[in-house]
Order: sequence, then structure tokens, then C-alpha cells
Amino acid sequence: MSSLAQIDPEIYAAIQQEEQRQLTKLELIASENFVSPAVLEAQGSILTHKYAEGYPGRRYYGGCEHVDTAETLAINRAKQLFGVEYVNVQPHSGTQANMAIYFAFLKPGDAILGMDLAHGGHLSHGAAVNFSGQLYRSLSYGVKKDSGEIDFEGIEACLKKHRPRMLVAGASAYPRTLDFERFAQLARHYGALLMVDIAHIAGLVAAGLHPSPTPSADFITSTTHKTLRGPRGGLILAQNREIELQGKQEFYAQRLDFYLFPGIQGGPLMHTIAAKAVAFQEALRPAFKRYQQQILLNARTMAEEFLQRGYKLVTGGTDNHLLLIDLSKTGLTGQQAEIALDQAGITVNKNRIPFDPRPAKVTSGIRIGTPALTTRGMKAPEMRQVVDFIHRALSAPTDVSSLEHLQKEVKDFCRTYPLFSPEWYCEVQ
Ligand SMILES: Cc1ncc(COP(=O)(O)O)c(C=O)c1O
Repeated sequence: MSSLAQIDPEIYAAIQQEEQRQLTKLELIASENFVSPAVLEAQGSILTHKYAEGYPGRRYYGGCEHVDTAETLAINRAKQLFGVEYVNVQPHSGTQANMAIYFAFLKPGDAILGMDLAHGGHLSHGAAVNFSGQLYRSLSYGVKKDSGEIDFEGIEACLKKHRPRMLVAGASAYPRTLDFERFAQLARHYGALLMVDIAHIAGLVAAGLHPSPTPSADFITSTTHKTLRGPRGGLILAQNREIELQGKQEFYAQRLDFYLFPGIQGGPLMHTIAAKAVAFQEALRPAFKRYQQQILLNARTMAEEFLQRGYKLVTGGTDNHLLLIDLSKTGLTGQQAEIALDQAGITVNKNRIPFDPRPAKVTSGIRIGTPALTTRGMKAPEMRQVVDFIHRALSAPTDVSSLEHLQKEVKDFCRTYPLFSPEWYCEVQ
């Protein structure tokens, strides 16, 4: 019997049940993924015991020689992966990575221009309910009504009028390629710093399947747990440029290190940092590029299937790992769709579509992503089957017995797919 089962049977049972949920249901939340057994092993390791405030070679605690090795490996691998001069692997989350950038380069009350939450942006890009919308003067841009694509003319007009100190590029629910160079040209022209948040697309960027923000951005932030397929956490990347602040020249690296720790965090999560290092090692190997290519192919296949069945997709399709389905013509809200799909064993999240008249708890859309199912080893034929399951659930969303029947079919379908397909185990070099 496991010691957890003995000591805390309630938590043990919750974990077992969650494992069954993950194995027997179809995980389509675009921001979720399953990590490799190696990442899980590092994350569950005894490194959780260690306090290591500071950075490798300059800690406030003794006994850090081995965690220094782990953090240095994580940093060097991320440098190689993203072609940057500066990396900080300590942010506990994507939001804290963003917070560190703001604290390092903005003063309270400075203006930031980020993508509207209701158009696909993230809370930490200036939403009123988030610290970023409370400490700073938050301005937002969105997408164009006709195409659903980013409204660069709107961005330029806002930059011109308000001259914000920072422009934020990056999104949580945007299915198209982000033109970082265009963001950078606008930021440069109007004297704004450019922060690019690649939380969702980091895996695609690392694999060279989405343009890299490295040459254009001042700062890049990310999560490590979405397409990048690592442990839950954040990441800061940058070229180590110089900046003049209050009459003093400073390097980005110095300032970012300082504002992350001691600025907004205490001790780093060394077990998570080791797990990040493992995930970066996996991402540097050829199997990872194949995995990311499969994510894209799976998303495109699902998009084609939905379009063939008459569904409306925001922007008409996808260039990345996610689709945003506009349900407004189906008579269903996003909330109703999420509930019906859940009863059928399919996990998605309701999502506002651009210009959605419904509130965030109801919505007119759902967001669907392929990273997790791709990790399980599913390919185009399976994607067609998954769209068929979704279509059947959405065609009879209140028919309890047909949803129950569908759930059994889904469970049966999932049976042969492990959470992490052996095909993505990285080749030993
Ligand atoms: C674009 C973007 N940035 C930042 C985050 C925040 O990440 P976390 O939940 O780790 O704070 C997310 C999470 O969904 C995101 O989509």
C-alpha cells in the first residue's frame, strides 16, 4: 500500500479519481497538457525540501550546490531553446512572470496597452479585476469585427493617443499567428516597451513552428505547462539590452532578477525548476518538433471537420493549437455546451467570443485545444472521431440518456491511449 494511501486516504482517493478522470475523458482545454513521466518524477522529487533564495552561485542559504546545478541546466537549456541571452526560471506562474516585468519597468499609474480579456487576452494584461488593471492605467485593444483578427490600426491609434509605457502582445484565446515584428515596429515608433507573453504558444515557438518573438520583444514571458509540456510554472526570457532608468544605465538581466527575487517572490520551487529543466531537455530533441507538428495538424483537422458540419469558427480556422467555436447561431450558450460536453466525457471551457453580448459566466463560445490529446498519441483520424462526439453531444444537449451513452463510448475510445504516448519519449542523443 502506498504511504499516501495509508496516511491520507482522502487525498489519495482524490488523486486516484482525478487520474481516472484524466484517463477516461477527452481533455480539450487548450491551456492544459500531460507531462512525461520524467518531468513528473523531477516535480515529485526531494528537491521540494530545499530553500534556495537567490540565484545559482549567489544564494542566501547553504547547501545549494545541487539545486544550483539543476537551475543552471534549466537556464542554459531555455537559452538554447529560445535563442535568448537572459532566462529566469523562478516565476511560480505565468502571472508572476508578467508581474515581475511590470514591477521592473513600470511605475504605478503608468499606462499599459494589452489585449482585451473579452477578445482573447489574459487577466494579467490589464484586466480590471487583476492587479495589472488596478496598479496601472490599463488600455486595451481587440480584434476586428469582420475578420476576428488583431486590429493593428486600433493599436496604433491608441499608442498615438495615449503613449503607454508598455505594449503587451500575447493571448489566451487567439487562434492565429501573432505578428511580433509588427507589434515591435509600432512599439518602437511610439516609444513603448514591448512585452510578449507566449504562454499558450511557447511549445510551437520552441519548435520553430510559430515565429519567435526573440528578435523583436524587449521581454518575453511564458508559462511552462501549456504547449511547452512542462510542470506548472512561469518563465522570463530576454535579450540582455541596456535601458536608461532615472538617469542610470541598467541591464535588463540585473533588473529582472532583482524584481522577481526579492521583488515579488521568496524561495524558488526547486523541484519545479528541475522539472522545467527536464521539459526543456525534451523540447530540445527531435521528437518534440514532431509532437508540435502533430498538435498543429490535429487542430487544423478539427477545424476542417467543424466547418464541414456547419459550425462557425472565430477567424474561420486556426494557425495554432486552438479553435474558438462561435455557438451563437446554434441556440446554445457556451455554458450549456460546456455542461453537455462534460456529461459526455469531453472537457472544454466556455469562452467569450469577440463582441460577445453574453457575460463571461455564460458566453457564446467554447475554446478547444489539441495539446493534451496529441500528448496521448491521438492523430487526425482520432480528431475526426472527437469532433463527431462533440457534434453528437451538442445536437442533443439535454438528452441525458444519449449523453450517458456517449460518455461510455468516449471512455471506451480513451482506453487505448495512455496520458503520455511512448512515441513522444525523447530520443537519447
Ligand atoms: C497568455 C497567458 N498569459 C499568462 C497566463 C497565466 O498563467 P498562470 O495561470 O500560470 O498564472 C495564461 C494562463 O492561462 C495565459 O493564457
